[in-house]
Amino acid sequence: MGSLCLGSQAFDFVTIKSKQLQNPSCAGLWRKTSIGCWLPDALPARLDQMWFSEHLCAMAMVCLLDFEAYAEKYLPKIAWDFFAAGADECSTRDENILAYKRIRFRPRMLRDVSKLDTRTKILGTEISFPVGIAPTGFHQLAWPDGEKSTARAAKAMGTCYIASTYSTCSLEEIAAAAPGGFRWFQLYIHRNRAVSRQLVQQAEALGFQGLVLTVDLPYTGKRRNDVRNGFQLPPHMKLKNLEGAFEGDDRSEYGLPPNSLDPSVTWNDIYWLRSLTHLPIIIKGILTKEDAELAVRHGVQGIIVSNHGGRQLDGAPATIDALVEVVEAVRDRVEVYLDGGIRKGSDVLKALALGAKCVFIGRPALWGLAYKGEEGLQDVLRILHDEFRLSMALAGCASISEIGQDLVQFSKL
Ligand code: FNR
Repeated sequence: MGSLCLGSQAFDFVTIKSKQLQNPSCAGLWRKTSIGCWLPDALPARLDQMWFSEHLCAMAMVCLLDFEAYAEKYLPKIAWDFFAAGADECSTRDENILAYKRIRFRPRMLRDVSKLDTRTKILGTEISFPVGIAPTGFHQLAWPDGEKSTARAAKAMGTCYIASTYSTCSLEEIAAAAPGGFRWFQLYIHRNRAVSRQLVQQAEALGFQGLVLTVDLPYTGKRRNDVRNGFQLPPHMKLKNLEGAFEGDDRSEYGLPPNSLDPSVTWNDIYWLRSLTHLPIIIKGILTKEDAELAVRHGVQGIIVSNHGGRQLDGAPATIDALVEVVEAVRDRVEVYLDGGIRKGSDVLKALALGAKCVFIGRPALWGLAYKGEEGLQDVLRILHDEFRLSMALAGCASISEIGQDLVQFSKL
């Protein structure tokens, strides 16, 4: 708890926070600000934003949902809606989160958790804990420095960042922002194959260490609020990796010409990709044992169990529910990762117990950026790291290798 002095008046932060929820009946002492919250009337208007972010919000950031609340409050509605969107009724988006709440631990006691080691490796590279950053587009909607901030935060926290094809910074800018950082590049295959080929080769030349092929987006899912808002990228933001590729075309679909992605892609195109690059190929968007088996047979090095954060097929299963059948089908032949709905350290522990080598966060990374750019994203990762560490300790695991299926009530799944 702290206080802010304004002349002779001192305001207690906790009091102020609760006043935020109050109604206009206290008008006179409190005023509604341009940024939509209630602050002491004595506070000069020009200080609103600074005071709020420096003091009130900084104190409130305890869990990832605090960053979500901040992003919802301060991002322009059109940007918030774009980040939050799920397809259709958003049932898969919401199920990604609800499914974790149904899983219970079988914690073990008296196991010496005085020293905890959260490090692990993905495809041979060490990361500080098993949480990386999933590919999401348009980071400049959250923070002016966009993906450059994301790259810096991931490097500072010792983890992997998957940069999206739909970045608002170029691959060169991302690589230069955090030299030596551990990064994979996420690819969408365009009808214009030359564009995709060039991006893959550029990513490899720039030192990206893996190629993530997203396979669940032959067409873009129907996200109702984006349709209602007529979502468009603001004119000053560009899809930097695709600049020049669609010159003169109508860019009405998320900054691209409608149907620019190739919906005719099949498993055979993995061989085409293989011919373009020496990078390990990780396939993102697998939800069934049949596709997991096909992925292994087509020589990929990793699988990300993902439903695109519930933005594609509404009614697809929660990723944590799909994980088990994929892990069983793969039988340790390739690494299996997961994204979707990770909001707490204990979610990470559940995913690892059910066989994921690592998980990735999508929206929470965007909320961190919206809060304070690179610093905000580091805060998000740090909180997740601390929560994961604590969950490990309380469950009786001192290192990642001690996390196994017996840690959850598997029979109830
Ligand atoms: C995404 N996702 C995504 N996936 C991908 O392969 N390429 C992309 O460009 C994007 N873009 C994107 C934008 C936004 C705003 C969101 C929310 C998601 C999907 C992303 O990689 C991931 O699968 C989900 O975000 C994971 O779910 P959570 O963590 O957001 O619940």
